[in-house]
Amino acid sequence: MALPSPPKTAANPPRAATAAEALTPLIESTYTSPDIHCYVNGKKTVISNANPHWTLLDYIRAQSNLKGTKLGCGEGGCGACTVVLQVPDSSSEKRRIKHLAVNACLFPLVGIDGKHVITVEGIGSVDRPHPLQERVAKMHGSQCGFCTPGIVMSLYAMIRNAYDPETKRFTLSERDIEMEGHLDGNLCRCTGYKPILNAAKSFIVENLEGQLTEEPTAPAGAEDGKAEKEVVDLVRNGCGGPSKQSCGRPGGCCRDKLSEQPSENSSNDSKSQTSTPPTEPATSPDNEHIPAIVRATDKPEHDPAVSGATYAKPLKSKEKECFGKETKTSTSLETEISSTKKGVPVVQFKEYAPDTELIFPAALWKYEPRPLCYGNDKKIWFRPTKLDQLLELKDAYPSAKLIGGASEVQVEVRFKNSDFAVSVYVSDIPELRQTKMPLEAELETAKELVVSANTPLTELENICKEVYAKLGKRAMVLEALRKQLRYFAGRQIRNVASLAGNIATASPISDANPVLLAAGATLEAVNKSKGSIDLPMNKFFVAYRTTTLPPDAVLSRIRIPLPAPGVREVLKAYKQAKRKDDDIAIVTTAFRVRLDDDNNVEEATIVYGGMAPTTKESLKTQESLRGKPWFHSETLDIALASLLEDYDLPYGVPGGMADYRKTLTLSLFFRFWHESAAEFGLGNVDATVIDEIHRAISTGTRDDVNPYEQRVVGKQIAHLSALKQCTGEAEYIDDMPNFENQLYGGLVLSSKAHAKLLSVDWEPALAMPGVVAYIDKNCLAKEDNIWGSIRKDEPFFADGEVRHHGQVIGMVYAETALQAQAAAKAVKVEYETLPPILTIDEAIEANSYFPHGKMLKKGLALQDKMDEAFAKCDRIFEGQTRMGGQEHFYLETNAALVIPSGEDGCMEVWSSTQNTMETQEFVSAVTGVPSNRINARVKRMGGGFGGKESRSVPFACYLAIAAKKEKRPMRLMLNRDEDMLLSGQRHPVQARWRVGVSKDGILLAMEADVYDNAGFSQDMSGAVMDRCLTHFDNSYECPNVLLRGHVCKTNIHSNTAYRGFGAPQGMYFAEVMMYNIAEGLDVDVDELRLKNLYKVGEHTPFLQRIDEDWHVPLLLEQLGRSADYRKRKKAVDDFNAKNRWKKRGICLIPTKFGLSFATALHLNQAGAYIKIYHDGSVLLHHGGTEMGQGLYTKMCQIAAQELGTPLDAIFTQDSSTYQIANASPTAASSGSDLNGMAVKDACDQLNERLKPYRERFGKDAPLKQIVHAAYLDRVNLAANGFWKMPRIGFQWGNYDVNTVKPMYYYFTQGAGCSEVEVDLLTGDSTVLRTDLMMDVGNSINPAIDYGQIEGAFVQGQGLFTMEETLWTRTGELFTRGPGTYKIPGFSDIPQVFNTSLLRTDNEGKPLSWNHLRSVQSSKGIGEPPLFLGCTVFFAMREAIKAARKMNGQSILGGVGKDAWKLDSPATAERLRLAVGDDLVRRADVKRKEGETNFFVAVA
Ligand SMILES: Cc1cc2nc3c(=O)[nH]c(=O)nc-3n(C[C@H](O)[C@H](O)[C@H](O)COP(=O)(O)OP(=O)(O)OC[C@H]3O[C@@H](n4cnc5c(N)ncnc54)[C@H](O)[C@@H]3O)c2cc1C
Ligand code: FES
Ligand code: FES
Repeated sequence: MALPSPPKTAANPPRAATAAEALTPLIESTYTSPDIHCYVNGKKTVISNANPHWTLLDYIRAQSNLKGTKLGCGEGGCGACTVVLQVPDSSSEKRRIKHLAVNACLFPLVGIDGKHVITVEGIGSVDRPHPLQERVAKMHGSQCGFCTPGIVMSLYAMIRNAYDPETKRFTLSERDIEMEGHLDGNLCRCTGYKPILNAAKSFIVENLEGQLTEEPTAPAGAEDGKAEKEVVDLVRNGCGGPSKQSCGRPGGCCRDKLSEQPSENSSNDSKSQTSTPPTEPATSPDNEHIPAIVRATDKPEHDPAVSGATYAKPLKSKEKECFGKETKTSTSLETEISSTKKGVPVVQFKEYAPDTELIFPAALWKYEPRPLCYGNDKKIWFRPTKLDQLLELKDAYPSAKLIGGASEVQVEVRFKNSDFAVSVYVSDIPELRQTKMPLEAELETAKELVVSANTPLTELENICKEVYAKLGKRAMVLEALRKQLRYFAGRQIRNVASLAGNIATASPISDANPVLLAAGATLEAVNKSKGSIDLPMNKFFVAYRTTTLPPDAVLSRIRIPLPAPGVREVLKAYKQAKRKDDDIAIVTTAFRVRLDDDNNVEEATIVYGGMAPTTKESLKTQESLRGKPWFHSETLDIALASLLEDYDLPYGVPGGMADYRKTLTLSLFFRFWHESAAEFGLGNVDATVIDEIHRAISTGTRDDVNPYEQRVVGKQIAHLSALKQCTGEAEYIDDMPNFENQLYGGLVLSSKAHAKLLSVDWEPALAMPGVVAYIDKNCLAKEDNIWGSIRKDEPFFADGEVRHHGQVIGMVYAETALQAQAAAKAVKVEYETLPPILTIDEAIEANSYFPHGKMLKKGLALQDKMDEAFAKCDRIFEGQTRMGGQEHFYLETNAALVIPSGEDGCMEVWSSTQNTMETQEFVSAVTGVPSNRINARVKRMGGGFGGKESRSVPFACYLAIAAKKEKRPMRLMLNRDEDMLLSGQRHPVQARWRVGVSKDGILLAMEADVYDNAGFSQDMSGAVMDRCLTHFDNSYECPNVLLRGHVCKTNIHSNTAYRGFGAPQGMYFAEVMMYNIAEGLDVDVDELRLKNLYKVGEHTPFLQRIDEDWHVPLLLEQLGRSADYRKRKKAVDDFNAKNRWKKRGICLIPTKFGLSFATALHLNQAGAYIKIYHDGSVLLHHGGTEMGQGLYTKMCQIAAQELGTPLDAIFTQDSSTYQIANASPTAASSGSDLNGMAVKDACDQLNERLKPYRERFGKDAPLKQIVHAAYLDRVNLAANGFWKMPRIGFQWGNYDVNTVKPMYYYFTQGAGCSEVEVDLLTGDSTVLRTDLMMDVGNSINPAIDYGQIEGAFVQGQGLFTMEETLWTRTGELFTRGPGTYKIPGFSDIPQVFNTSLLRTDNEGKPLSWNHLRSVQSSKGIGEPPLFLGCTVFFAMREAIKAARKMNGQSILGGVGKDAWKLDSPATAERLRLAVGDDLVRRADVKRKEGETNFFVAVA
């Protein structure tokens, strides 16, 4: 094998002239092997001279049979790429293995040498699923499925590590699953996480009496009660805990029997097991929750309505044996799915047998790792196996880049274009990666703990835990370090990342550095010339990301001092981030104080991260504290004042949040001061200052019984692709097989928000390896370079000017994706910058609008007499309310694949799109080929949420232009940052409103100007505004209404459809008004709501009559009862009266959501095409697309129900324009309504034709028998169904209540109740409990509907609380990936999360829907529950209101300077700054003349 040649030149090699000169001798003498030896899914694999640019993910996805591992972000923030490394456990003296979940997108390929890589394909398949895959699928843990393989693999590592093959004990508790951070590196945008946790919990094996098989060791001397509390939680949450589900324990669980009977007192099921339980949880709700029966079994029951379709024999043998022996096909449903008992689903799955798992390959036990080297003359990798080898290499070539876990380095490679021509993987060097645990006796006298520099953080967490358990408070520094590590990145990163990496990066927001600095740690570096060098931490960081580490040295050990026994010292660490789990810090701290015998400060080290360009000691504060009596208010005052001097951030400080960061600086010290006083036993300390928000194990119910269940429809059937998604077999666009001659696109994007394009030079790109060509506006006629969903106003390629950061200028295409992306970055663009308009306020000022001009008028507004209406009001309230936008963050970014056929201009256009029709239309336009030759297709999307309704279209078009030119297949999948830059988001909105009421609080007049930030083109912004206006009433009657919509034109990406389509924004304004009125009148907001609720017969502002199916009053009443709302509201008040630094809030809010494409009447149509083959199998096509919402499953259920055949006789392959012409986008929650009715229409036609045969063979005869006979009689067994929504057809401007047609076909209604707790010191919060109840009519599939409700709620929770899109002042989008943009993770969901469907009236009688004419009387559910995420916002607002009252602050709204308001999202920053306490006032940052904030939120 030829040895690689090192790069000829590399960045500033100080000693050798070239890398080649320096490294060639070493390659020839030491690094003689270029081959990586490993196992992949049990198969021996040798990778020879691998591509040096590849990560592990690049390698895996290059294998045609390993497409299950996904690329979601490429930066370690989503977990879609998770695989498991099976490796020997070096910390164990026995021959043991361990399983490490890692992010393949970051992990260096070289690192798999000698390891066993397990991907989702390695553990099971649809035919033989792993129990984990089966359970996640059957328990509805997979919707779009793009996150699923990654989540399955994180869970796999967890359950594999839970088994001890020696003792044969499998030990897993709810605590392990939820509290130990095994899932904190995985994101799911669809499910709301609850079903995934339930699937994981089905593996729990605990002593049936509630005793633990293994209890955590309580730290010696740790009498703080926290550890004890954790143990109690563990016991309480065992089998004896509140969840009455079976734990799936091999051999059966105590709950199996119990759970077969409907729970007698199910209200107790929802009793919180939180460490901070919701206030007075329900004891006797009316709506009994009956849980699905979940059990492990080896003899599954089949449900004939669902699976086991049989088919007639092929026709040729018909004459011999017509209906005798049958052939049988197998689908994913063949794995025994649920049968149901009286509408209660029974979920059965295989027992888990840990000893049948993949073993560690024997050959790897014997494998002796050798120094490795591979690469080419651009980039080269070394993997030394000994420290000496590394030092030699560093000595020869000091600028060689060391790579530990690569969690920092690979992000730099990917996003900062760092190439690191010479990279050295150091994590296989035992001297650097293995920390020796001191013996017990050594520990007693140890003065320090010595950690090897590249010890993985997970191991370090364990070491800290173990030493703390043994030494108690003397090892407080390790407990502080462990606490920081627990909330440090995700588990996958902690499994590989190191302290050395964290320290050497010298990030100012490092979480480990403050602790090490506060503890007085010393770093040991080593180089060849000097040997070991001591580097004290407090002198290590010299400037931003600059340290004193010599370039040729390696960090080898970190010495963490432990105080001598008896020393009176406390060390604590705190961190505040946007999201608790897997988030980088806003401010991160560690404090150490040592007292003398008189309780005076002997020594204090106060360290902050996030407050300066380096991790920084607070020198003034430290000095000011010396000798002072610690627990004295004057000392506190002095410290706070000094901290303000140490950290005097200006208003426009880089990173923004000056006020918040300064407030946190004070607040966290304030917390430490109290906590340390408590530790020292210096007096009575308010526990609510000390306690951080603790999250406990989540619970929750679904009211699983469905009285409306039919043979197939109404059953809780798992998503038909779920098992394929869990095994990685489900194919997304980027997983589709490669074509030999295919090319990849790389987009050239504008780096300016607004600028003239002076020149574009693509020559440098064309000179790069693998590049074929470049296309831009010059490839299209001017009139063809334009597209748009409603108005064609957006160029495909920028022409003369760029109008947002990230606008597409051109596309390079090349032989590989990496080459195309690199080449795109090499295109040189010159700009002349123009001033951008970013915010709504700026657009209003500049009069920058798109044409819209629509209004809603009701009552006196029709006569332009709103002044008269307001004159009649006793009180008038007004406000200016803003709500931020939201990134879709579907896990699968936009992707497309275009395959030209070579004949007649035909093209197969695969696209991850919700809109096949528009894809076809615009591909046809840019290629000049008629639509009938363009087959736009989509099998499934990894999430859409509206973001792929229009914004997906141009990508297919770019590829089509290139495919036509080159006559070669073209592919493109956007990187996460490109997707976030390009593809638009939910509209940020602002309302300037006025509302008048009678003195009793009856709404009399409402007027508002509502603005949405459309971005640089219109897209659907006008229609979004329409829906926003038509939901501005939420559920409340107001006789006089005037609403005006304005669509603002700005220089940001084009905002677009997003689940709810403007409605959540409109309803949010309604609720803001409700709270402002209630606060102004000093009345109960719930009473106010009830007084103003619509009554049957009243009219909305768009003059639609509220019909008899108005169920919001029922929902509020029933949910109020089942959530025990009144009682808990009172208890929240009691809690708030007793707690100074924690406040709670609770609210109960209704929603009504109009169904139909509101103002695009023509879209309210759908087609279906059903073919029954004469063997009885059915092929179904319809116009809807599958993005995880379960549409295909529901459509198959409808077809199976209507055609009288088992569900698995129906098959849907994809959505395609060759099958269904002119399909409307799958949107507006109307996918099931429209397509379901079209499917039914096709079934009706077929049933009519089959009627004679049913009569002949009997109504129960199998379909195969009926159609076989019909076929022989030459009956047409294919039918086109069609449906258009009747009744609707609203015309804007028609104000005649008698003639105006309804805007919406019906309203999906619901209510939500949430209770939260807020930490007033930090703004941190948790949702203690949420109860949701939705009216979905007769659900076609309750399991799917529950999934939509929970998933939409959590997405809404993110919208209203933590998801914040930020721009820089010059208009660059800052939030471009999971690192900067936070969506809710596993531990953000409500701790108690109950979901139910409205089924009865208040007396318990079954409900009927008199006006519902939808398919099976069901209702659309995709979007409506999202708004209920606002219950978390308003509950937080209540909590903050209580705090403001306590602090003597105004709670009155209005428009003046002193008016109080809390805009959405209620981020921790906004919550904290609204508390109005003394610390906030002290930290106030004065804005100097002309100073602007670093970031801009554009609402
Ligand atoms: C999604 C994500 C979340 C994150 N969250 C956090 C967080 O919450 N808190 C936080 O503090 N950080 C966080 N980080 C940053 C990063 O994970 C840490 O800094 C981590 O400790 C880096 O360790 P590593 O081994 O992966 O370093 P690498 O990426 O391998 O290397 C980082 C730097 O250290 C150098 N280096 C590595 N080993 C040595 C050595 N032995 N001697 C000298 N130099 C060496 C490398 O040359 C490089 O310059 C996050 C990163 C990601 C991608
Ligand atoms: S793709 Fe690797 S973490 Fe997102
Ligand atoms: S199912 Fe998790 S992201 Fe879609």
